[in-house]
Amino acid sequence: MRIIALMNQKGGVGKTTTTVNLGAALAEAGKRVLLIDLDPQAHLTINYGVEPSAEMVSLYNVLIEERSILEAIHEVQANIGLIPSSIDLAAAEIELVSVLGREQILKKRLETAQPDFDYVLLDCPPSLGLLTLNALSVANEVIIPMQPHFLALQGVGKLLETVHLVSRRMNPGLKVAGIVLTMFDSQTKLSAEVVNDLNSFIDSAKGKALPWANARIFRSKIRRNIKLAESPSFGKTILSYDGASNGAADYRSLAKEILGMEGVAVAPGAVKMEGNTERPTLNAQRSTSNVEATVANEAAPPAAPVVPATAAATPVAAAATPVAPVAAEQQGGVKKAKPKVAVLVSPEEAARLKAANKVPEGAAGKVAETVNNPG
Ligand SMILES: Nc1ncnc2c1ncn2[C@@H]1O[C@H](COP(=O)(O)OP(=O)(O)OP(=O)(O)O)[C@@H](O)[C@H]1O
Ligand SMILES: [Mg+2]
Repeated sequence: MRIIALMNQKGGVGKTTTTVNLGAALAEAGKRVLLIDLDPQAHLTINYGVEPSAEMVSLYNVLIEERSILEAIHEVQANIGLIPSSIDLAAAEIELVSVLGREQILKKRLETAQPDFDYVLLDCPPSLGLLTLNALSVANEVIIPMQPHFLALQGVGKLLETVHLVSRRMNPGLKVAGIVLTMFDSQTKLSAEVVNDLNSFIDSAKGKALPWANARIFRSKIRRNIKLAESPSFGKTILSYDGASNGAADYRSLAKEILGMEGVAVAPGAVKMEGNTERPTLNAQRSTSNVEATVANEAAPPAAPVVPATAAATPVAAAATPVAPVAAEQQGGVKKAKPKVAVLVSPEEAARLKAANKVPEGAAGKVAETVNNPG
């Protein structure tokens, strides 16, 4: 069973659209697919025509009340089961705060129930909180939907650090399968620049003990297509709403690519995870302290000074602060990792640094320049 978390803490990048339609395309290809809605907004649930309500058994009941996963599965289409969300789920993060092993509850429930599916797709909320951690704890793969514009790249460093942290502390088999570019417009120069930057970032991880060492940018790009935005309001997938649209073609193509990876691309084993001090350099930022606190367990050292959320606007300062997990390994005597320099900067910051002759070499400058001087 492949368990894939669709994850990006950035909002509105196409996580739910990808879960809905990739799921539909995998089911069309004959696979049994379970979709789990981890987002209290319940967009995945609504997109499959299910009205979230307190009466129905939802993910909330599974996480909080120990109801079986099997009770919560709603057959929404041939080959597709859905575990719905509801607004109650927003309270789950708070209700679980004092529960031991709170980030592994979903994993335990799935292990106990052993539902019979080929694919489980987890639609994560736009945050790195407890619900996303539950997804990462049980997943074998992460797929990152991303819009290829400058700001979309800004959170990737933090996202990858979270994946890395979970892979080291809780789920060593976790791998980043790849990045799927959504709302893609091949005409823009920026899309091409972002793809180049991502490619060189991924290439530089090849052969290293990192969860994204074998990641790819999926060849199937999801083009901007109005039908994809229309279909949810009819409670339909793109395949049933307009099977001849570009959106349908793109998600069928993505499904084919993912089916083609079965048993090869992200198989764990070749990569040794222990003692690994590598960290993502793409927009290096420290992890959010709540993620560290949840994952890092008792042995964690005092966290490094908290960098405010606005750190993205001052990337050089942010990059100079090693993240807490690295500090933990330094204390444990493992080879010291040098703090990395942020490679992506905001346009304003790029202009300021350029004036002061401090623009980082390579991709960062390119992206920032492109934003500054489109065309
Ligand atoms: N390829 C596309 N073309 C046009 N519109 C799209 C495309 N992909 C997604 N959308 C639209 O963009 C909006 C955001 O997409 P979606 O809800 O899938 O993002 P998300 O990452 O799940 O958001 P959130 O972080 O709020 O959960 C939706 O209105 C969706 O219909
Ligand atoms: Mg969503």
